[in-house]
Amino acid sequence: MHHAIAALVTVLSIAVIAPTSEGQFPQQQPQRVTGAWSDSTLGPDRRAELLLAQMTLDEKIALVHGSGMRSGGGSNGGAGYVPGIPRLGISALQMADAVVGVTRGAQMGRYSTAFPSQVALSSSWDVRVACEVGATIGEELFDQGYTMSLGGGVNITREPRNGRSFEYKGEDPILAGKLVASEMRCLQSRGILGDIKHFAANDQETGRNIGNVILDERRLRETDLLPFEVALREVEISAVMCSYNKVNGDWACENSYLLNDFLKKSIGFKGFVLSDWGGTHSTAKAALAGLDMEEPGAGYFGDSLKAAVQRGDVPMARLDDMVQRILRSQFALGQFDRQPARKVPDIFAGLDVAQRAAERGAVLLKNADHRLPLSASRVRSIAIIGSHADVGVLSGGGSSQVDAPGGNPVAAPGGTNTPGGGFGRIPVWHPSSPMKAIQAKAPHAKMTFDAGTDPSAAAAAARAAEVAIVFVNQHASEGRDVSSLALPNGQDTLVAAVAAANPRTIVVLETGGAVTMPWIDRVSAVLAAWYPGIRGGEAIANLLFGDVNPSGKLVLTFPKRETDLPHARVFGPPTSTVSLGDAALATQPAVAPAGGGGGGGGGRGGRVSVPPFDIPYTEGLKVGYKWYDAEGKAPLFPFGYGLSYTTFAYSGLRVETSTSPSAAATVSFTVKNTGARSGREIAQVYASLPASAGEPPKRLVAWDVIDLAVGESKTVRLAIEPLFLSVFDTASHAWRLPAGQYTIRVGGSSAMLPLNATIALAQ
Ligand code: BGC
Repeated sequence: MHHAIAALVTVLSIAVIAPTSEGQFPQQQPQRVTGAWSDSTLGPDRRAELLLAQMTLDEKIALVHGSGMRSGGGSNGGAGYVPGIPRLGISALQMADAVVGVTRGAQMGRYSTAFPSQVALSSSWDVRVACEVGATIGEELFDQGYTMSLGGGVNITREPRNGRSFEYKGEDPILAGKLVASEMRCLQSRGILGDIKHFAANDQETGRNIGNVILDERRLRETDLLPFEVALREVEISAVMCSYNKVNGDWACENSYLLNDFLKKSIGFKGFVLSDWGGTHSTAKAALAGLDMEEPGAGYFGDSLKAAVQRGDVPMARLDDMVQRILRSQFALGQFDRQPARKVPDIFAGLDVAQRAAERGAVLLKNADHRLPLSASRVRSIAIIGSHADVGVLSGGGSSQVDAPGGNPVAAPGGTNTPGGGFGRIPVWHPSSPMKAIQAKAPHAKMTFDAGTDPSAAAAAARAAEVAIVFVNQHASEGRDVSSLALPNGQDTLVAAVAAANPRTIVVLETGGAVTMPWIDRVSAVLAAWYPGIRGGEAIANLLFGDVNPSGKLVLTFPKRETDLPHARVFGPPTSTVSLGDAALATQPAVAPAGGGGGGGGGRGGRVSVPPFDIPYTEGLKVGYKWYDAEGKAPLFPFGYGLSYTTFAYSGLRVETSTSPSAAATVSFTVKNTGARSGREIAQVYASLPASAGEPPKRLVAWDVIDLAVGESKTVRLAIEPLFLSVFDTASHAWRLPAGQYTIRVGGSSAMLPLNATIALAQ
């Protein structure tokens, strides 16, 4: 049988590249094998079908699970590795975590660009920025011998204390979906399989392996599932990673509603679903629910899946469908037609892209009396305070941690170069010094640095200088949520002391998301730099001195106080207040899967012996700004808000209905730069649906990023996609455009919308 199949293929060359300079990590170069599927004029589906027809049961099983997290063997050293099948010329899937750059550099002795956090990138609101970063990450993955990214974090910021907020794209599902679509389109243009995650409703880290999210179908479709739908309608993304948590009683990775009904049937997803690391909990149930690949091991999808297929518990057609989805994704991105070719990544290009993204994503939150920009020629002395701003900028921790080139410049327990920051336990700074970059702008200014550990010493330093720039941070990581939105380690006291000592106090925030600012009225200026990446110091200096005019706008709300959030605390088990995130990570031994065979799935989804608990997201549709709108709570800084060194005026709104399938309505309006500097405005369009729809007061439906010279006006024309005005109808399980009166509001922030007009839409 095996011989007969082998005879159908032609081995062109058996030049498997032997391990050479790669040492223990040889690049697995598949044999070049041709067959009917090699005809690149056939589409990916047909080619996959032809290849699938050649495969034995064992070969099919081998493709639907990872081979453990160990490095070595044929693995390229990434988080995931599915060996190829040389007999058929199928190349290995070499997967790397790559949300903000290619990870695991320290272990592998490789350099990759550390990009700003995803919240930072998204604060540019610009699909071109997302594309540029996606393409660069794709390029660096390819250069390093990877074939698949595990990036594409797109959970909405429903719980702002989520320790992974920095990996995601804010609280609006449409904005997040559009940005991830662009990022994945451009990453995939480099021949790398893309992946979006974590599907679905994995909005907190506390108890991520045991929490059961409760959200009904309408609320799921209109909130947590929507970014996935928006992205997958636009781009054929190769993979979706199902998450650790349960949704409405079923694990996300064996949830037939999520995987079969929504992803595959309702929105026609053609790629494959892979489990988060250790997120598989069954064989037949998961396979029949739509899971296509178990990661990182073979606890359920190895021998036990083979047995289930042989017994008929899982039809061969389902296994074929899993394999077909994987192969068609590889064909679609040319992985059968292009050989890997390693090179040293173009680090200079990466640095430029990272800096541009940091500059585009920083948000100027306050600028009293035009304190900023600083004048390079006039400023005489600057006190730099806090957050290791003398040596670097902070980054977020966990599986997305990009290792600092040269090692973490901030000495930490356990060594300065612990790979991956010890999975978030050791904050990693990137060696881009804001202080050096600021000094370079104002070479004649006297600069001092104070570590910020003693507020009175910091106040003395601030008093002695003309301007005080205080850097504050909040480290966030996968595996745990932040304990509160307050800045940790006494930094609120630090800022208050510095502000009391110097009226020219500027605060630079390096955080994963929103924080509270009890000192806001006492400081002159606040710049949210997020985790700004490997050129963060230079970007911050450019913004503070006005070489770059700030243009980022918030993709998440900053509340005035934590009690304004929908829930007083992050959900956890009823009897305990501890964060279970850490316990659910690799430190916890995985319980052998019941009847799973094959020795456990490994990875980070280790089952823990804490009782499961429910996560009832009672705010439902009211995520982020929709909550503040609906509840009449004024935030500290609203969604969509951000200042510039110039000003903009809006006029001339026209709204028209449209019959085009891609637009329910079109809007046009004019934006004018009314200030004294050229600048960039993010113009936003929100819609209030007819009252009968029962929706929150307004939702973002379109936006544009507009460059304007001094005095310049531009007329912007935007289409509003029908989906963005729709409501999910649970009776028909379909989107419905409610008939009635819509109010369209336009302006520069969700809380400042000077233009409005109404239109009537018929169903
Ligand atoms: C994370 C995923 C990641 C995977 C592999 C998991 O702990 O949740 O985002 O891709 O590990 O490192």
